[in-house]
Amino acid sequence: MGDIMEQTRWYKDSVFYHIWPRSFCDGDGDGVGDLHGVYGKLDYIRSLGCDGIWFSPLYPSPGVDCGYDVADYMDIDPLFGGMAAFRRVLDAAHERGMKVIMDLVVNHTSDAHPWFQKSRRRIPPYTDYYIWRKPLAGGKLPNNWDSQFEGKAWQWDAMRREYYLHLFAVRQPDLNMDNPLVRQEVKRILQFWLELGVDGFREDVITFLSKRDGLPNDYLMPAIRGIGHYNDGPRIHEYLREFREVLDKYDTFTVGEAPLLSPRRALDYVDERRGQLSAVIQTQVMNADCLLTEYVPVPFSLRRLKRSFDAWQKGLDGKGWNVLYLENHDHPRVLSRYGSEAYHTASGKAIAACYLFQKGTPFLYQGQEIGMTNWRPRRAEDYEDVQTRWHYRNMLARVLPPSVRLKWCHRASRDSARTPMQWSGAPNAGFTTGTPWFRVNENYRRINVAAQDADPDSILNFYRAAIALRRRFATLMREGSYTDHDPLSDGLYVYSRALNGERLLVVCSFTDKALRFCAPKGFVLARGELLLHSYDDALDGNGFVTKPYECRVYHFR
Ligand code: NOJ
Repeated sequence: MGDIMEQTRWYKDSVFYHIWPRSFCDGDGDGVGDLHGVYGKLDYIRSLGCDGIWFSPLYPSPGVDCGYDVADYMDIDPLFGGMAAFRRVLDAAHERGMKVIMDLVVNHTSDAHPWFQKSRRRIPPYTDYYIWRKPLAGGKLPNNWDSQFEGKAWQWDAMRREYYLHLFAVRQPDLNMDNPLVRQEVKRILQFWLELGVDGFREDVITFLSKRDGLPNDYLMPAIRGIGHYNDGPRIHEYLREFREVLDKYDTFTVGEAPLLSPRRALDYVDERRGQLSAVIQTQVMNADCLLTEYVPVPFSLRRLKRSFDAWQKGLDGKGWNVLYLENHDHPRVLSRYGSEAYHTASGKAIAACYLFQKGTPFLYQGQEIGMTNWRPRRAEDYEDVQTRWHYRNMLARVLPPSVRLKWCHRASRDSARTPMQWSGAPNAGFTTGTPWFRVNENYRRINVAAQDADPDSILNFYRAAIALRRRFATLMREGSYTDHDPLSDGLYVYSRALNGERLLVVCSFTDKALRFCAPKGFVLARGELLLHSYDDALDGNGFVTKPYECRVYHFR
């Protein structure tokens, strides 16, 4: 398989469904989602038109960061059904023509991982598996970096009598990737899962793996202080090339999470001539209503959203491949952010249409296809997420009273999108027959899969139609060019894809206001075929007046 250029790059024709296992479907009644539950829903996922699944971590873990704190990379947590249940799901997915990618979390481990337990006792060869430092003079921390979840990035270990670095939770110590033995371990992990038959990896904060020599202080970015010295760091490409020694023996899809990377920098990773990663998950697309993080909110701007899509569509065109997404387990629900809960169905459809027809591999996050909305907690104690809890207690606590803090978290917390999947109007939304591990969003009686399945005009059936449409036209897949026809509008997203004289025009309104849409130059709507729409198909000259959050897709030949 050697040369990546010769591989089929099957992922370019795929649509992925992202499962956050804990909240997807509980098959054994213990209140936690698991692989037995997933098994029973594979046909549902296939019915959406999806032919790939990304699993957030399934490995044994203390669960401090819901599985992103791995205690054993080569097993499946019994909570999720263990290895036998995983193999059954993998086989059943493959039988249905679906690929499966795992989450590779190797920037850090859990502190419960045996490597860490041995490292803190200085047991060879684990002594330098992590980033240990002595205190500076006067007992000061080794540098001024912040962790992204819990205060400072250094934790004192009383046993080893040194600090260890943790860019995330205290119980997520960072691995020392400069150590060749650690890289060897990563290659073993890759090999293990690929031999088992998985089809690739979503690589957690992969751009954080290489820290700048000397771990210098950072003066640029309060709150994420240090990121300038570990994101896109000095040896990252060397490491990724080394991992390819294993990956290139298989036909894989590798998607790296790449916070804050510009398209130009991303090309260093995804340029197909270099072939380090198949694609990256960029984060700008989640910043249309906030500054870098949802905890610093600003009003939603469609122009910002379009600028981000546009930059990535153009920036990688012909050189590298995009991942397309608007939701995952790290962000509150997109319908509550970029859409409108008041215009639930219409805005859910506009959100689907605004990204599914772009060039790249689309990802859907569980519940997005029925327009799940942000969960509203009653009490701060209801929050499970380590990051939210910290923000509630610290950052926000300094300035805000509790009621305001709760509202803030409702808008910003990852937990807003981690409530159990709403399968039906049955108790606990049909997610479990037991007691759910986490609160169910109270709107499940209205918003659920069973109800939308039966309704031809639902968001769910719109996703099905849109994905089927995407597959019908080569123009919407690998080759067609992308043009944003109205970048300055803050109400309408109008883009087209074109190939060999065929064109598809997508019009999405992101407002409840009536706007006059006029077809872009060169398009005569009356001559086009309206393939998908969320209201009626009225025309008014060479355009129409939009209804709230209306969307349409026209085809021209
Ligand atoms: C990114 C993951 O998506 C997120 O859920 C996790 O908390 C951090 N990386 C740390 O692993």
